[in-house]
Amino acid sequence: MELSPRLQSIARQIPQGARLADVGTDHGYLPVWLLLNGRIRRAVAADLRAGPLDRARQTARQYGQMENISFRLCDGLADIGAEEVDAVVVAGMGGETIAAILEAAPWTRQDKLLLLQPMTGAPRLRQWLQTHGYVIEKETLAREGNKLYSVWTVRGGNMPPLSPAELWAGVDGGDPLRPAYLSSLAEKAEKALRGHLTAQRPDQAVIAYLEEVLSGLRKMKEEWKPNDHSG
Ligand SMILES: C[S@@+](CC[C@H](N)C(=O)[O-])C[C@H]1O[C@@H](n2cnc3c(N)ncnc32)[C@H](O)[C@@H]1O
Repeated sequence: MELSPRLQSIARQIPQGARLADVGTDHGYLPVWLLLNGRIRRAVAADLRAGPLDRARQTARQYGQMENISFRLCDGLADIGAEEVDAVVVAGMGGETIAAILEAAPWTRQDKLLLLQPMTGAPRLRQWLQTHGYVIEKETLAREGNKLYSVWTVRGGNMPPLSPAELWAGVDGGDPLRPAYLSSLAEKAEKALRGHLTAQRPDQAVIAYLEEVLSGLRKMKEEWKPNDHSG
């Protein structure tokens, strides 16, 4: 079994021997791969829907991992106990869903490692984490085709305030894909800005916000330097 670059990037951040909860597991590739490679002790694979959870069971059966995985049909972490897991992955979902899942499980702030990978709404999720007692310790990027995915290592704690551009792009960890990530975000901000500038009734506050984001992203790109902390 081979993981996609996005799932590989998540797998690399899971500590050896962890007990993992994979929320929104779908096909179950991540926990099964981690078990097959001796990286984790046990896993809870959870999904909101029966179809995806059945797919995870099929993957586990195919690779002989049924005994090491507990399957839960539930919303987020609702049927998973804090004492069962050390690390929680919530990947491949919208930022708002990820925030709602964490909000309903405040124990995720207490000595747990969280790996979050939002598909949309990253700026709002960063802001939500900042105002709800979480700190993003590290962000790594993965490329699949022409898409870039950002994987966040998060724990309970205090995060310094982030500027509007940092809410969009996160804090630089020296990832070699960072310049491409900044360019794609700047393109997105430019497109949104153009849309607002040509609107019939332009919203000056939104325009000022997007201009600030855009100039911050451009500055980050100009000042970007690789470092040894990429991974
Ligand atoms: C696009 S798949 C991502 C699968 C895998 N985590 C990945 O990153 O490749 C999203 C999965 O999350 C599940 N999901 C969506 N909202 C959820 C929630 N509130 N609680 C648990 N699972 C959820 C969906 O049913 C679906 O199987």
